[in-house]
Amino acid sequence: MNFLPYDRPVRAAFIGLGRIYDLNVRGYLGNPDVEVVGLVDPSDERRAQRQADWPAARTFASAAELASSGVEIDAVEVLLPVQLHADAVVEMLGYGWHVNLQKPMCSDLLDAQRMLDAAKTSERVLRVMENYLFYEPLRKLKAVAETDEIGEVSSYHIKTVGTGAGGWEVPISSWLWQWEQMKLGRGIMVFDDGWHKLSTAIWLFGPVREVRAWIGSTPVGPGVELDVPSVLSWEHENGVRGVWDIDVAIDMYMRSDYYPNDERWEITGRRGYARVNRCTGRGIQQPSLEIYSGGEMRGYHALDDDWASSFRDSGRHWLNWLRTGEGPLLWSGQEAQAVLRFALAAYASSASGGISVDPAAI
Ligand SMILES: NC(=O)c1ccc[n+]([C@@H]2O[C@H](COP(=O)([O-])OP(=O)(O)OC[C@H]3O[C@@H](n4cnc5c(N)ncnc54)[C@H](O)[C@@H]3O)[C@@H](O)[C@H]2O)c1
Repeated sequence: MNFLPYDRPVRAAFIGLGRIYDLNVRGYLGNPDVEVVGLVDPSDERRAQRQADWPAARTFASAAELASSGVEIDAVEVLLPVQLHADAVVEMLGYGWHVNLQKPMCSDLLDAQRMLDAAKTSERVLRVMENYLFYEPLRKLKAVAETDEIGEVSSYHIKTVGTGAGGWEVPISSWLWQWEQMKLGRGIMVFDDGWHKLSTAIWLFGPVREVRAWIGSTPVGPGVELDVPSVLSWEHENGVRGVWDIDVAIDMYMRSDYYPNDERWEITGRRGYARVNRCTGRGIQQPSLEIYSGGEMRGYHALDDDWASSFRDSGRHWLNWLRTGEGPLLWSGQEAQAVLRFALAAYASSASGGISVDPAAI
């Protein structure tokens, strides 16, 4: 496709003004690359609340109303419940808008293909944002993996513990569609939050050729089962092996400005290791990145380790991309499809007793 960068600020609209708008908006506020001209949500309350950020923007109850309003739009920031992603993205690409979509892209490959086909037909860009790729401690970890600082990396470990206490308020309406996803076998820990972990795996070490998984189930309330304890392991095409253990400590308090998740990434090299100690929450109160090598531990105390900054930088990257066309999209629709295949390979493996599954065979 021939993409022509914009030689003026991008005219953008937010589609979905719920919980995560509070972080996605950070890439837009004070950004000369963009002019926010539309706000879309069926909720009157949400529209009124977000109008305060963008007094000059017009508000609409649906994307169709925006499309027929005469307001000129170049790109939309799509922040909708996952079940709506595929139809909404196809609709919006059809209006001729570039799309920056929240993760997970969607729940199955048919929907992913529908979106990719729609982008091709409309000659518009579909980006699936992945804010973790913009979290500075993880960016530094990637730089360590790509240099000789700890020697050649052979394996790594990711850990997630979701907790039931702490963090910001999440309205019940934001949970309801997540519970529907859980019933469809796309749990909040392995699929929804897990999307980030699988993305970082591919981003750090490249394509995955083999996945083995053991996905658990734990009742936490009437009709609500979380997809833990779970263990996923995999091998990249370059031979590096990864393992990720996921659990929930429902009564554990986790200090957090956002979701109360305890997370870490630790890569092992021939001469040392490097570990990101926290991300979304304020778990281990050490420097957010530590590197052990040659008998010495180095701690990075001054990285921007506020999780919200990763949203700001992902959003700025997208808007800058539309203005210049420079660099990778992080992620393109095709790269997001690879993340989906990785997750689906894990489900297929777990359903078959943990056998090896090649994501490309899904
Ligand atoms: N990157 C991350 O770390 C992260 C974190 C949380 C959520 N998310 C993702 O962000 C997306 C939104 O999540 P959320 O927590 O903000 O959900 P939410 O339920 O809080 O917000 C969704 C909003 O969409 C609105 N909406 C529903 N149907 C609509 C329609 N047809 N047109 C326009 N608006 C509509 C709802 O009224 C609501 O305000 C999901 O894809 C979720 O997975 C990503």
